[in-house]
Amino acid sequence: MSTTHMLPTGYRVHSRAQETADTVTVTLTPTTAVPKTPVLPGQFMMLYAHGVGEVAISVSDAPRGDLGVLVHTVRSVGAVSRALHDTPVGAVVGVRGPFGHGWNLYPGGRDLVVVAGGVGLAPLRPVIGSVLAERDRFRRVTVIVGARSPSNILFGAELAAWQAREDLDVELTIDQPVSGWTGAVGFVTESLHRINIDPARTTALLCGPEPMMRFSARVLLDRGVPATDIQVSLERNMQCGVGVCGHCQLGELLLCRDGPVVDFATAEPLLRVPEL
Ligand SMILES: Cc1cc2nc3c(=O)[nH]c(=O)nc-3n(C[C@H](O)[C@H](O)[C@H](O)COP(=O)(O)OP(=O)(O)OC[C@H]3O[C@@H](n4cnc5c(N)ncnc54)[C@H](O)[C@@H]3O)c2cc1C
Ligand code: FES
Repeated sequence: MSTTHMLPTGYRVHSRAQETADTVTVTLTPTTAVPKTPVLPGQFMMLYAHGVGEVAISVSDAPRGDLGVLVHTVRSVGAVSRALHDTPVGAVVGVRGPFGHGWNLYPGGRDLVVVAGGVGLAPLRPVIGSVLAERDRFRRVTVIVGARSPSNILFGAELAAWQAREDLDVELTIDQPVSGWTGAVGFVTESLHRINIDPARTTALLCGPEPMMRFSARVLLDRGVPATDIQVSLERNMQCGVGVCGHCQLGELLLCRDGPVVDFATAEPLLRVPEL
């Protein structure tokens, strides 16, 4: 365990991009030398807003693949995430990590189905970046993105660029019809019913609200995709990030250490127990 896991390192907000009314993407650069520790899609950092508190936030892009530049997308839902969301360019936040296991894209030669709901697109964005960087390793790649309304869509320009590609099938769907919207309407589960799936050759990656992941996984199971080939990213309250405090316990798992990405064969029985 290195000091970057226990002691926050100062990172300066280098740039901010307002994605929606309550969500911002920040690029952070370290104020001191940092080790060349790899940072992988699906991993998270603990971000500390000075004097307010510390929360888990996934990496939403990995421009260098290490701690040298971090990109996070933060939705303001409470005291800490609001303070991080509001941190201006030039100010310094504390960072610990990286923590947890990322998405498993092995073996290659398979179809990928990526399903994101709301801010759940943030931890999946770097996966799509790495898939595009080695596009030949995969067969058909389908990305389904759900948002409550057009004003809640994250990474709009990037989504448009993905939609323009011939080697990606991208469906963007909003929950309710809105005037002027010409794209799909309905939940991501409806899109999952429509797409072509070769169940024996599909790896599925799901991130979003827990009910969305459970219902999406159910559709994939019904379509024959084994639970071991479906990965979900789970959220629980994180405090230490290093498997010591027990706050992130889910059954026998400590999600900071054994997750946050877990295969659905492992997750499903635990998510069925309401108290967990
Ligand atoms: C591994 C992991 C990765 C995450 N990645 C991101 C990310 O990339 N971007 C992002 O915006 N958020 C992410 N989150 C969620 C983020 O950590 C919470 O939104 C944050 O902890 C809320 O803290 P707060 O003090 O701002 O709000 P609080 O006052 O603690 O909570 C405000 C509201 O948010 C709900 N809430 C609190 N914690 C969580 C949680 N962990 N998950 C869901 N709802 C919660 C509460 O029930 C309450 O309704 C991630 C969480 C985990 C565990
Ligand atoms: S956050 Fe402390 S054990 Fe996981």
